Amino acid sequence: TRVGLVFGGASGEHAVSILSARTVLRGLRSGANTERYRVSSFYIDRGGRWWPDAVAAAVLERGVPAEPADLPGSAEPGGFRGFPDGALEMEVWFPVLHGPNGEDGTIQGLFTLMGVPYVGSGVLGSALGMDKQAMKAAFAAAGLPQVPYACVAAHELSAAGGREALLERLESSLGYPCFVKPANMGSSVGISKASDRAGLLKGLELAAGLDRRLVVEQGVRARELECAVLRRQGGPGDGLSASVLGEIRFDSDWYDYETKYSEGHSHTVIPAPVGEAVSERARAMALAACRAVDAGGLARVDFFYDEATGNLWLNEINTLPGFTSQSMYPMLWEASGCPLPDLVHQLLSSAGG
Ligand code: DAL
Ligand code: MG
Repeated sequence: TRVGLVFGGASGEHAVSILSARTVLRGLRSGANTERYRVSSFYIDRGGRWWPDAVAAAVLERGVPAEPADLPGSAEPGGFRGFPDGALEMEVWFPVLHGPNGEDGTIQGLFTLMGVPYVGSGVLGSALGMDKQAMKAAFAAAGLPQVPYACVAAHELSAAGGREALLERLESSLGYPCFVKPANMGSSVGISKASDRAGLLKGLELAAGLDRRLVVEQGVRARELECAVLRRQGGPGDGLSASVLGEIRFDSDWYDYETKYSEGHSHTVIPAPVGEAVSERARAMALAACRAVDAGGLARVDFFYDEATGNLWLNEINTLPGFTSQSMYPMLWEASGCPLPDLVHQLLSSAGG
């Protein structure tokens, strides 16, 4: 089977995507997968232009984004200019793109129109899973527990007299500390923690520079648990299956981009040291979260767990979770009896569209 591995992308998580794609490629080049799959890689530069296997393989090899100087014409404005050679011959696509323009339903829509199956969620699940306002609304509609939050439109910050009213609304409903997030980002890009009004305003301005839609969440003291979901061929019902839980531990004040991707700043504990009842509750909630947004065969669902009260809140779903060497998704499956080569084979076997 000819597999198109597409990575990079016009997103704030471009660099993370390259590291994820290296792991996926390693899985596709292991054991029986070498016989099953013929892989071509495709690199989307930060401007949205697609590059063929010769360029993509070099980027994967180096593990860092290509310099515009190495990509003739890439600095010209204009994004997508058509497919490079070979792209139309792919029989299945494996998008390893994080954030806007890849995790959000856009590339899923492209593949759907092309009539070629692809790994992961379809257009609806990807779009709902990417936008934190829409995701939270879908979770709320499904009755899933979440920390108190508020939706904000970026223009509220600049509206005459609107800024004071907005800050008062957020302070009275959420208080401090709170977290300000652009609705459509991942890896904590653009997220800040606010402990007072000045910090809140600064955080809102930062997030408003990245997105029209923002969310502000009440900060809770809690442990961070994660669960991986996969669609298993021939599994019962819709085939969705939940992994063991993992816990993220970190020394920094909160789990920001630097903590996520710098070696030694965080570590994972798998399986998470929580009681069986909590683990079962989280795993059931992970599947319910997928169903609430119509997420398909690939997702990582993140939780906050307050040991003192027993509260378990759904934080978010990631429909194209990281596959870097620091990332939880492949580690959770490994610990659940599905090592990387089997995992990527399962993902390709359940590719839909
Ligand atoms: N957004 C990053 C890649 C994650 O969820 O793992
Ligand atoms: Mg995310």
